[in-house]
Amino acid sequence: MTKYSPDVFKTCLAGEKIAVFCGPLANKFIFSNEGTLVTYWLPQSVATSLSYKKIDSNTQSGKPTHDVSYKFLKPDSIQHYVAIVHSMTQHHLDKFWAPFHQVKAYTLAKEFTFALSCRVLVNSSNPSLDQVRQLAEPFFLLVQGIFSVPIYLPGTPYYKAVKGGKLVKERLVDIIKQRKREMAEKNEYNDSNDRDLLGCLLVDSHKNGMFLSEEEIASKIIGLMFAGFYPTSTTIAFMLKNLAEHPDIYDKVLKEQSEIAQLKGQGETLTWTDVQKMKYSWNVICETMRLTSPVPGNFREVLSDFTFVGFDIPKGWKVHWSLYATHNNPTYFPEPEKFDPSRFEGNGPAPYTFVPFGAGPRMCAGKEFARIEMLVFLHNVVTRFRLKRVNPKEKIICNPDPIPTEGLPIHLQPHVI
Ligand code: HEM
Repeated sequence: MTKYSPDVFKTCLAGEKIAVFCGPLANKFIFSNEGTLVTYWLPQSVATSLSYKKIDSNTQSGKPTHDVSYKFLKPDSIQHYVAIVHSMTQHHLDKFWAPFHQVKAYTLAKEFTFALSCRVLVNSSNPSLDQVRQLAEPFFLLVQGIFSVPIYLPGTPYYKAVKGGKLVKERLVDIIKQRKREMAEKNEYNDSNDRDLLGCLLVDSHKNGMFLSEEEIASKIIGLMFAGFYPTSTTIAFMLKNLAEHPDIYDKVLKEQSEIAQLKGQGETLTWTDVQKMKYSWNVICETMRLTSPVPGNFREVLSDFTFVGFDIPKGWKVHWSLYATHNNPTYFPEPEKFDPSRFEGNGPAPYTFVPFGAGPRMCAGKEFARIEMLVFLHNVVTRFRLKRVNPKEKIICNPDPIPTEGLPIHLQPHVI
């Protein structure tokens, strides 16, 4: 930025010439020129590990609004998931938190988010633990190596990621085949609110006579599993870290969540309306995503030559729009290293400075689902436990999302509201 401009600079990443877009003007430019000057692009390691080539072309440019998986994630379709997320969170906390004085919050957030993804994406009833475990092992290999240098040699993270991706796909194909058989036997092609994404895809292809192959369905599911898993679990973990470090902010969240909990009857579940009331808690989550962006930004490919702030960007170059460039920049967020949810009060940050979910036609399709997942988890944790970090000096590394090296151990102090 010092050499070229605060808005854009050039570099080389993974063998590609990359223009890094850095500020609100740059973000707006990318989000407004989707499908005309720039289009979706993924580094080779990500595309191969996720079998991205096999995904139909409507995900490559413009907004794939007709895709069933995008419709599945729209707010009116996912509202009923609040109750499911609530009951899965309670079960998770009863089993993996309540019996212990200390837990590894990062490790558990990963396990919880993955089990929830399995529930939402491939299983209409409670996912059998074995099935989740069988998918989890190769999936975690995929996640660990997906952003690595693409050297396909035994032992490299990339090799493990590709192998992991293939195994997840094979296991998903088995699940899809079994589900297809069950639906055909029962002739069960009705819309049901409780359906998972796989159910929706199978019902839709049956109704429209557009049969997707098992591999195509598996590719869609892996794509969503990955897109939804790592930013959500990372944000949950870091939101717990921030609450453990800031008792004053924890108390404000607890006040908001207690007021919601006290209006509920014994055993009554949270609803979509309750989630809308969690305004301060959402500010805390936004500040967590600002301070520790779970996603560093994303990539595009240049479709035709253009000029941006006086710099010519040629066709074929790749573009990376960077979240850190605004989220951690004192020009837009004074004292950027300070955790301060009040930044999101009133009108909040200036346009295009806070874009954890992107914006424009390719904005995160799972934003509302992520909001439900994170807020419902937060509600259940604060209404049951006070939190304190075991090692405030624990090292955080980036790969490229932030990872606490000890798994974020946290002391739990149970309480009743
Ligand atoms: C804290 C949680 C999350 C964050 C911060 C996040 C962030 C992002 C970002 C930055 C993008 C790229 C936008 C762009 O390239 O312009 C994206 C895309 C996407 N996300 Fe998320 N995401 C989250 C959770 C989820 C969840 C839970 C799902 C699904 C279950 C999901 C599904 C997707 C999909 C399908 C895309 C691709 C959209 C497209 O290209 O049309 N995300 N997300």
